[in-house]
Amino acid sequence: MERLSGQIIRSRLPQGMKNLPIAVFDRIRSTNDEAGEQVAHAPLPRFVAVLAEEQFGGRGRRGRAWVSPQGRGLLLSVAFSYPHASGMRAEEWPLHAALAARDTIAGACGCDAKIKWPNDILVEGKKICGILAELGTGTYGRYLVLGFGINVNTGPGELPPEIESRATSIAAQTGESADRNELAARLIRRLYDDYVLAQGGMRFSDRREVWLSQCVTIGRPARISQGLQVYEGFVETIDDRGALQLIDRHGVRHSIVSGEVLETFEGDDRKDGDR
Ligand code: BTN
Repeated sequence: MERLSGQIIRSRLPQGMKNLPIAVFDRIRSTNDEAGEQVAHAPLPRFVAVLAEEQFGGRGRRGRAWVSPQGRGLLLSVAFSYPHASGMRAEEWPLHAALAARDTIAGACGCDAKIKWPNDILVEGKKICGILAELGTGTYGRYLVLGFGINVNTGPGELPPEIESRATSIAAQTGESADRNELAARLIRRLYDDYVLAQGGMRFSDRREVWLSQCVTIGRPARISQGLQVYEGFVETIDDRGALQLIDRHGVRHSIVSGEVLETFEGDDRKDGDR
């Protein structure tokens, strides 16, 4: 199976991106930590990508661990600093990242990848990619880390049983192993393009319609948590800032900025909680 290679990935990027720092590790605690450290004290503007064959402290959302067998997944973090003056909205990035991952995965495997708000990617209701977005403050200001865990060539029996039943991989969908370097190049390219667009004023609202068209959480009853609070009701839409709009059984609207879909109902008796 082909190993990840910074040189191969760079060779598949367009001319203007050939000098992008891309670091590949055999084994690392977390690509998110490494990418954050690389941008925290670097002068602006800076955009880096960090990949690993294996993590020994891979982190998921809400303090969970992220498990990915060695050499099978795409463990990729990009980190970028951004000038305050750019007006870039950090809180919108988890949503931009979700669409970027969805489009990249769908393009790579031809499968019907969908977004589960805010930023899980599912195929046939099973998780194929999780995203961890983290904000930090360094010497020159704020920076953002976006970490992607994509199940690429993960095979049967390679994930713990409690995760396996709710997960899928690109190889499981297509029946053949996928080129992780190509996938990495495509995702890095897309994220870098989005980074440039966001500096030029792109907003989530500009992509909201497309985003909604790829999201499975809209237009159905659901149970959503935000911190310790749990809301149950009908998910009406996602607003211009990416906040989920839920109407509870008393007709009260709740705007949920960051949370997690615990369960969806109606025509879907599958529990689609997080892995
Ligand atoms: C989730 O669904 O809970 C988010 C999972 C994010 C996992 C990726 S793997 C690469 C990067 N490094 C980490 O430690 N986490 C993210």
